[in-house]
Amino acid sequence: MSYLKIRHSDGLFGEVAIQGSKNSVLPIIASTVLHKGQTIIRNCPHISDVYDMMKILKSLGATSIFEGNTLIVDSSQINNSVIIDNEVSRIRSSVIFVGALLGRCGCAKIAYPGGCKIGERKIDAHLDGFLQLGYEVEDNCYLDVKGRITEDRVICLKIKSVGATENVIISSVISDGKIVIINNAATEPEIVNLCIALNEMGAEITGYGSERIEIKGVKELKEAEVEVFYDRIVAGTYIAALSLVGGNITLKNIDRNYDNAITMAFRKLGVQFKYYKNEISLKCNAKNKKIPELTISTAVYPGFPTDMQSQIMAVMCVRVESGIIVENIFENRFGNVEMLKKMGASIDVINNKIAMIKGVNRLKGCKVKALDLRSGAALCVAGLMAEGETIVEDVEYILRGYEHIDEDFRKLSANVWFVG
Ligand code: EPU
Repeated sequence: MSYLKIRHSDGLFGEVAIQGSKNSVLPIIASTVLHKGQTIIRNCPHISDVYDMMKILKSLGATSIFEGNTLIVDSSQINNSVIIDNEVSRIRSSVIFVGALLGRCGCAKIAYPGGCKIGERKIDAHLDGFLQLGYEVEDNCYLDVKGRITEDRVICLKIKSVGATENVIISSVISDGKIVIINNAATEPEIVNLCIALNEMGAEITGYGSERIEIKGVKELKEAEVEVFYDRIVAGTYIAALSLVGGNITLKNIDRNYDNAITMAFRKLGVQFKYYKNEISLKCNAKNKKIPELTISTAVYPGFPTDMQSQIMAVMCVRVESGIIVENIFENRFGNVEMLKKMGASIDVINNKIAMIKGVNRLKGCKVKALDLRSGAALCVAGLMAEGETIVEDVEYILRGYEHIDEDFRKLSANVWFVG
């Protein structure tokens, strides 16, 4: 069984290039199905969720190959609109193929999507969005969705869901000039990346990044080279580690408009940010100092991202006198608390929604398990500050989203090794 071995670090020093974003690239991969030809995706990370999307593409009749960090997809031979393979139930983004197959074939049949077990992860907002667009939806053992965009539509998503926004956008791109307006759309940078990529492919989408997105249908898409944004959560994970053990690091391939909510939180923890054109230099001298209190409340963009909650919790276990974390997006994202407590943290959880943290002076290395992608990354961060050695098991979760977390940490002069 593979695991990560982490030794105590006295500070991070060095530079690392930030990989392409998992949550950007997955819907972009699904959307290549819309084009009857080749799409070139640059800055695509080598992570297991991408490999699972590639297997689904193959089952549809498409091909995809990696050349370095460029993924070349050829969807000219798509001959299937049914996806019931294992990969579907492993990853959440498999559901985005529904929108893509609707645009391409006018029908999609798919098993229920999976993903990290961090909450109920319903898809009612996706299905409601499809119904508002005029598609027929059958929801029995499989999802069975059919139809075409045949008239202009104004829809309003029932919640600001990232995945539902992506699905309805992708399903509305191909039509005979029909206008679709999506209200209450999610505004995450990953939605912006998807829309920029689709526009490169010939779509006509405006308003992305706001809550009202407008799409004018086009008859077909064209061959394009699209670029995946850097991963703001991977960058945030390294900033979290810096805030815990101190040091001086540079993150490359990242832009100066780095996520404001993450920046604000880590500034409070003593991290200093210096921005250059495509890199950020970061410094933290505060590793042994506690701040009196910190409250973090997760929210949709531009709020503090739920995907950084586990990592900042690991930091707060040591760097605050008294801390509160309120998880507002997922119902079950405090699984890591038991692991952090095993390492010596003092945390009480109320109703699976609020974590009350009392800062301790040290964590101790021991054997812990990743329970999902971000909790695994957070244990790696905690391991850097813990005394002795930490073993993080079930590392497969981390490989879903981090291209080479061990190598990256070694570039930052930490002792993190992948074993197995
Ligand atoms: N929800 C519903 N009904 C729906 C859709 C969502 O009730 O139809 C609920 C979910 O159960 C959840 C909340 O709404 O409680 C947010 O879900 P959303 O649809 O916005 O999230 P997602 O598309 O499933 C993406 C990321 C997640 C990230 C969330 C929120 C991908 C592949 N996943 O998930 O990433 O946490 O947005 O930002 O893009 C991660 O990277 O670790 C991760 C979990």
